[in-house]
Amino acid sequence: MRVLVLGSGAREHALVARLASDPETETLIATPGNPGIARMARTLPIDLTNVAAVAELAAAERIDLTVVGPELPLSLGLADRFAADGRLLFGPTAAAARLESSKAFAKTFMARHAVPTARFHVAESLNSARAQIHEGDFGFPVVLKADGLAAGKGVVIADDASAADAAIVAAMADRKFGGAGERLVIEECLNGPEVSFFLVCDGTRALSIGSAQDHKRIFDDDLGPNTGGMGAFAPSPLLDGALEARVMREIVDPVLAGMAAEGHPFRGFLYVGLMLTQTGPKVIEFNVRLGDPEAQVVLPLIDEPLVPILAA
Ligand code: AMP
Ligand code: GLY
Repeated sequence: MRVLVLGSGAREHALVARLASDPETETLIATPGNPGIARMARTLPIDLTNVAAVAELAAAERIDLTVVGPELPLSLGLADRFAADGRLLFGPTAAAARLESSKAFAKTFMARHAVPTARFHVAESLNSARAQIHEGDFGFPVVLKADGLAAGKGVVIADDASAADAAIVAAMADRKFGGAGERLVIEECLNGPEVSFFLVCDGTRALSIGSAQDHKRIFDDDLGPNTGGMGAFAPSPLLDGALEARVMREIVDPVLAGMAAEGHPFRGFLYVGLMLTQTGPKVIEFNVRLGDPEAQVVLPLIDEPLVPILAA
């Protein structure tokens, strides 16, 4: 098969390394790629936000399977365009990618399908956000999240009303995250260890490909601000067989069934960010792609060839 990987980070390097070892892979192209990837695959420069350009490149290179690293092209409708072209791509449509690209969608979807998550309100305006903080349904600390994609920077855990107000003003008046801050999700602060759980989904079924935990703080000795992950390890010792079965039953199965029932079957990598609370596992976030750095430790643990699974 002629396989195309989209992206330019360590996650895509890990994907390329994994796909390169599959017997089904005859040709491997990565775009835009990076210097490490270029040692294993042909790289071609492209702007991944230009959906038409990516589709044209896949056609020109007669690509059989396209695997998408980052969320942005998916939220811009890359999978929809490939489907219209009759070309195989592993990743969700823009509507299904809202599980990541709109936290308000993800939360209201979970509420509709009884998926365990932090209690929440969605605020559509600065005044309603302020009013909700004033009503104090969730006490303090309280968590404020920009609705849209904010490159992992859109979450504030506010210890008091003035910190919450500063976060509301930054997102909704100063537009710190641009359009992503037009709506805010305000939610209760949960406690417990965090585990990331990864699945390959075909629209109706989900196959576990493993779990991971990351080291979030920027400096050694767990000091400094939170990041998207400075490093990761897999599998997570916290997600044993019994807990994984519970997460499949209470979270993953209803998500797949709910997305299909709402007309947006989820096909692609599903990343379930979990917090293991005293009342059970709860969803902190969904991502519609592999994690970075988690992909670097999860992918090498998969024994079976990946290409046939992603192309199925
Ligand atoms: P998110 O982008 O939604 O994954 O949030 C980034 C980080 O904020 C998570 O990895 C958690 O550490 C923290 N966080 C998000 N939501 C909550 C919550 N409801 N309670 C406690 N911590 C949270
Ligand atoms: N490591 C977090 C993420 O990929 O979103």
